Amino acid sequence: MSSSPRRLLVTSALPYANGQIHIGHLVEYVQTDIWVRYQRMRGHEVHYVGADDTHGTPIMLRAEKEGLTPKELIANVWQEHKRDFDDFLISFDNYYTTDSPENEKLSQSIYLKLRDAGLIEMRSIEQAYDPVKEMFLPDRFIKGECPKCGAKDQYGDSCEKCGATYSPTDLKNPFSVVSGATPIKKVSDHYFFKLSDPRCENFLREWTQVRTPLQPEARNKMKEWVGQPGESKLGDWDISRDAPYFGFEIPDAPGKYFYVWLDAPIGYYASFLNYCEKKGLNFEEWVKPDTTTEQYHFIGKDILYFHTLFWPATLHFAGYRTPTNVFAHGFLTVDGEKMSKSRGTLISAHSVIESGFNPEWFRYYFATKLNDSMEDLDLNLQDFVARVNSDLLGKYINIASRSAGFLVKRFGGLVSDEAMNHPLLTEISTAQDKIATLYEGREYAKALRAIMDLADKVNAFVDENKPWDIAKAPECEADLQSICSVTLEAFRMLSLYLKPVLPKVVAGVEAFLSVPPLNWNDINTPLSSQNPINTYKHLMTRVEASQIETLLAANV
Ligand code: MSP
Ligand code: ZN
Repeated sequence: MSSSPRRLLVTSALPYANGQIHIGHLVEYVQTDIWVRYQRMRGHEVHYVGADDTHGTPIMLRAEKEGLTPKELIANVWQEHKRDFDDFLISFDNYYTTDSPENEKLSQSIYLKLRDAGLIEMRSIEQAYDPVKEMFLPDRFIKGECPKCGAKDQYGDSCEKCGATYSPTDLKNPFSVVSGATPIKKVSDHYFFKLSDPRCENFLREWTQVRTPLQPEARNKMKEWVGQPGESKLGDWDISRDAPYFGFEIPDAPGKYFYVWLDAPIGYYASFLNYCEKKGLNFEEWVKPDTTTEQYHFIGKDILYFHTLFWPATLHFAGYRTPTNVFAHGFLTVDGEKMSKSRGTLISAHSVIESGFNPEWFRYYFATKLNDSMEDLDLNLQDFVARVNSDLLGKYINIASRSAGFLVKRFGGLVSDEAMNHPLLTEISTAQDKIATLYEGREYAKALRAIMDLADKVNAFVDENKPWDIAKAPECEADLQSICSVTLEAFRMLSLYLKPVLPKVVAGVEAFLSVPPLNWNDINTPLSSQNPINTYKHLMTRVEASQIETLLAANV
């Protein structure tokens, strides 16, 4: 087993500060958190940072509507997001905001380095403008009548009624969502990051196709985008927005602001910088081009483009290291359909807690669905109840209750040391490398299947040995202690394997078994006759089918 600890900087995407955390988001934070907790158990140096993504037009307008300043709004939302992440046991080492002094400084200095490298160009472009509100309008702030069926109140990209797709300029009788005014065309100067520069194209071709072990689906997508040498496919990237805008000003460009997607990923570094300063870590050491540290970004497939083109190019040409890898996951559906407010399936993280759900049920369920691909995953509510009750409780938790009682009542809570050589235990410990590889490779569904197969074997062992029968025969004391010891030690090992997924349950297990926090290499440090266990208390309750209705009702 490799001995020198790795040094890992890990992030999840920064959620927009204009909405609540919902269970779709949670897929990503749970996926990342499991990986991070696994790496910590291995003894690696891991720093997991996040932040709210706070800038842009929607946040500015929402604040105005609510009678708040943008800074007040994002401060409130930060509290809610942080509460939700804590509830779901997402173990960020630092949770920050992109609206920070660190981010402003970093964004401006990165921009200036790109400009010095000759990769920034100013150009005039024509855009939709709201003459009443006196602001440029992003596409989603223009509505009108569908050019095909005439349905009213449709967005600029597609019609919800007839399904036609078109561009915002095709809308009939367009109006600004902000003021109701008819948009006009207006010219303004914008700043572009010249991704079409051959230096950028060559770099991105090499970075996406050779250097970085991207997921095959991601690599293929990038291959289309970056094209063949000499073939210029990448458009330049518009990184500026006009006032009024909630964001950071661009140096030497009065009234111009960085587009939110320029400063958002830099927010990963700003959060990490803020953390390094608090902890006395050397930030430069982690971000310099020849660093030996690793950097991973967990994201959803919808923001791949930003993380595998814009972000590495930004970093590289500003003189920083680039990500070691980017891990994209698919989208969560509920009962096979896109989450929807009207069906009550746009389930907020907070409503899950309010409806009395144990967050670890969700962590477990998502883990049984997650793999290393970008395929979508489904939350099937019927299946959720079955998996939690039959696997998590019926197979795993049940093992503890089946063995602990006799040990405490009859043997002073002590295991028999001889029992620790049992072949069943050897079989469980032998699975460790396989399970490690699956966690490392984000194949959580397979990891959990392997662990639950082992749990099945432990339950079969109990069924065969029938401790409740043996307990009735006084001459079989030693057998009873031995069987219960094997069973409980098996439970300890399974708990170790499940700890990245179920941190709170396993903290309860550690207290119950009276052992220090379990690390990956504790697999071969069995329970000992020197160290009595405590009385078993319920570690987790079942999910009731009726709770599903409560949850859906809470979200309409
Ligand atoms: N603010 C940007 C990310 C900036 S990163 C520098 C953003 N925010 S988001 O709030 O819309 O989404 C945050 C993350 O949650 C993204 O990775 C996104 O893919 C993910 N998900 C949002 N809805 C999801 C599902 N329904 N299912 C799975 N993941 C989902 O994008
Ligand atoms: Zn239509």
